[in-house]
Amino acid sequence: MQTILDELEHRRARARKGGGEARIAKQHEKHKLTARERIELLVDDGSFEEWDMFVEHRCHDFGIENTKVPGDGVVTGFGKIAGRPVFIYSQDFTVLGGSLSETHAAKICKVMDQAMKIGVPVIGLNDSGGARIQEGVASLGGYAEVFQRNVLASGVVPQISLVMGPCAGGAVYSPAITDFVFMVEGSSYMFVTGPDVVKTVTHEDLTAEQLGGASQHTKTSGVAHGSFKNDVEMLMQTRKLMSYLPLSNRDMPPLTESAEPADRPSPALDQIIPDNPNMPYDMKQVIAEIVDEQDYFEIHSQFAANIICCLARIDGRPVGIVANQPLVLAGCLDINASRKAARFVRFCDAFNIPIVTLVDVPGFMPGMTQEAGGIINHGAKLLFAYAEATVPKITLITRKAYGGAYDVMASKHLRGDVNYAWPSAEIAVMGPDGAARIIFRETASDPEKLAKATEEYREKFANPFVAASRGYLDDIIMPRNSRRRIARALEMLKDKELINPPRKHDNLPL
Ligand code: HXC
Repeated sequence: MQTILDELEHRRARARKGGGEARIAKQHEKHKLTARERIELLVDDGSFEEWDMFVEHRCHDFGIENTKVPGDGVVTGFGKIAGRPVFIYSQDFTVLGGSLSETHAAKICKVMDQAMKIGVPVIGLNDSGGARIQEGVASLGGYAEVFQRNVLASGVVPQISLVMGPCAGGAVYSPAITDFVFMVEGSSYMFVTGPDVVKTVTHEDLTAEQLGGASQHTKTSGVAHGSFKNDVEMLMQTRKLMSYLPLSNRDMPPLTESAEPADRPSPALDQIIPDNPNMPYDMKQVIAEIVDEQDYFEIHSQFAANIICCLARIDGRPVGIVANQPLVLAGCLDINASRKAARFVRFCDAFNIPIVTLVDVPGFMPGMTQEAGGIINHGAKLLFAYAEATVPKITLITRKAYGGAYDVMASKHLRGDVNYAWPSAEIAVMGPDGAARIIFRETASDPEKLAKATEEYREKFANPFVAASRGYLDDIIMPRNSRRRIARALEMLKDKELINPPRKHDNLPL
């Protein structure tokens, strides 16, 4: 018996070594942790249970039959984050570059299938040279099996992709389907075609970092939702993200005990709106005043900064906050802001996370670039996302809510549950300057008359009282009481039920 036990330990030790000491050292030289080291940091101490440690590939071509490493380049299993279950797969770059074989894919599919049966999130740690070249179409088939599961799991269990090394070719489409993609600065990249192919086809001479590094995808393309300095920071922040999320769409987000009273006043908010309506202020200060312990987890912080999307807690209750940011492009809605917020709203709605919307928006961004880029379709995505959302929706207009953007930003008309405004709110078809020039056109040549007409328009419409008189706002509130009023609304709405008409699926303007 002892011999058999020793044999098991021996085999386990062999599997844990992955591609061996030399390749592990190489991984460390690149400031990258190994697949198993990453899992250990991600989950609660001692909670990881590994599956399929002895799985080997079944390929017999190109001499690869002589290179078999137990586990076949991916570590899979389940563990706990803050005591809550999670399924994990972590690609091991030390084994054939973490390349995906048929069996490697089957291991990933096994944990995904199990996660779906139980209703538990899946976190994928990606560090791979892509399709196992020696396996050809068997590897491509493996990828497609993963994609299919990603799609069916979308909106059912949270899926998070941590890109911690190469992720190239069709492999990028698995992360792209998942809810959140995070990248490590300097050691990860994602692209559909690498620098060599790009050079041949388009004659552009680019590094992997320029083409698909963290900076590219967090600032310009928006493919990644955040980046972190190193593996450790990413893993710690992923633990934090998980603290806001339910285990599945059958579950509610976890409640915690708030360290602060729900009715904590915020006197600073009474002074935050500048006298000059064209002066910006930092909407992040408003968010910090409203949420528990000034703490929030921002999504896409470097992309489309004219809108802020973050997860936070109010009186211990997780919420998704969408807020126009007057500091950037005056808080205008443009293509990227619309895409960013629409995806976030749909994520929150899918996972029962109430949405709090803070509005200070002068309208949609005008101009040829935006029109040619399809702002009509992209803006419609945000409208669509808000209109179809059935989770509790609480809206607070702090200052401007002009034109179509008023409608889009979780207005009463899009089934906003509780719609508040500060006394500083200006709700109208457009800003007073533009409005006066159109409706008092005959005064345009006389600056004095125009100024008077503008003032007249401002007094009549650039306030919240007209909207409140129609019931489009439920109340006009003191800025200092915003946290209390939103916390009470969330508590009131906790058992909200609203069901959209049955259909195969909607036809979001993609
Ligand atoms: C098999 C692979 C591999 C792959 C790397 N290796 N990629 N083995 N299939 N796709 C092996 C290497 O042979 C090497 O083995 C080890 O992994 C480490 O690779 P290195 O090249 O030494 O590492 P590094 O210098 O860091 O370069 C990493 C890399 C490079 C940039 C990822 O390996 C590379 O370009 N690989 C090929 C990438 C690629 O073209 N993949 C196919 C993409 S298309 P030894 O034994 O020497 O340690 C694709 C389609 C998916 O994925 C479609 C889905 C729909």
